[in-house]
Amino acid sequence: SPTIFRTVAEMRDQVADWRGQGLRIGLVPTMGGLHDGHMTLVRNALEKTDRVITTIFVNPTQFGAGEDLDSYPRTEAKDSEMIGAVGGQAVFIPSVREMYPEGFSTRVVVDGLTTVLCGASRPGHFDGVSQVVTKLLNQAGADMAFFGEKDWQQLAVIRRLARDLDIATEIAGVPTVRDEYGLALSSRNGYLSGAQIDIARQFNVVLKKAAYDIATGGFASEICAAAGDKLLSLGFEKIDYIECRDAISLETVERVDLTSCRIFGAAYLGRARLIDNHLVV
Ligand code: PAJ
Repeated sequence: SPTIFRTVAEMRDQVADWRGQGLRIGLVPTMGGLHDGHMTLVRNALEKTDRVITTIFVNPTQFGAGEDLDSYPRTEAKDSEMIGAVGGQAVFIPSVREMYPEGFSTRVVVDGLTTVLCGASRPGHFDGVSQVVTKLLNQAGADMAFFGEKDWQQLAVIRRLARDLDIATEIAGVPTVRDEYGLALSSRNGYLSGAQIDIARQFNVVLKKAAYDIATGGFASEICAAAGDKLLSLGFEKIDYIECRDAISLETVERVDLTSCRIFGAAYLGRARLIDNHLVV
């Protein structure tokens, strides 16, 4: 079973020891409630590095008022077992106090990228993500850190902050893990009933069709609006956004050209807010 660290000091001692042996270290930040999407990150990390630390921390600073901080799944024992089962060597499970001691007062804000898409409806969310990920990257000093493409905007923000702040850890993106119907795995899928799961499974189908229509020459704004209507007719309660944007700058794209763009969607279903994104070209 994996070694569990609860303090930064313990983790750093282990990292120093591994480094002394010439081993490469991988970091997989998570908030727990682990599923096969997370485990794929751990497996990827184990392929590319020698020792993998998975972090489990439900970061309060990235949840807005009225969001699911209190009800977010907390399954530490099961999570650690899953990590051990795939060969992960260590788990870092800090307390809120360990991460944000008395007097903590530093924020990390990535401009531009964080005000669109999920940033528009979750003000401050990416500030919290940037803050905690900066800390985790500095705490571990890993060679590589792994993040899922499911949260494409988060990955773009993290790549930007790592570059801007000269963080030496290489940021690696991992393709979205989906169920057999294409639904992106998410800890929040657990909020859905069986009937709602059936509806949720249409999300990726509608987004992929829209991506195809845009890729074959359509106007993105019209196609995205139609995709939103389609999702509402299928049983989604509210559409947050469906937009086509540049993969790196996250600027809006209306007609495809030679630069890579993606379709991004966020929609409400029951207690869950689902997000997904797909390559357009
Ligand atoms: P969490 O939602 O637990 O996700 C942890 C990592 O798993 C993220 O990089 C996320 O993109 C990835 N992930 C989740 N579902 C996935 C799927 N179906 N396929 C591939 N990767 C998937 O994202 C966070 O936690 C937090 O914001 C965090 C980065 C840990 C900072 O608190």
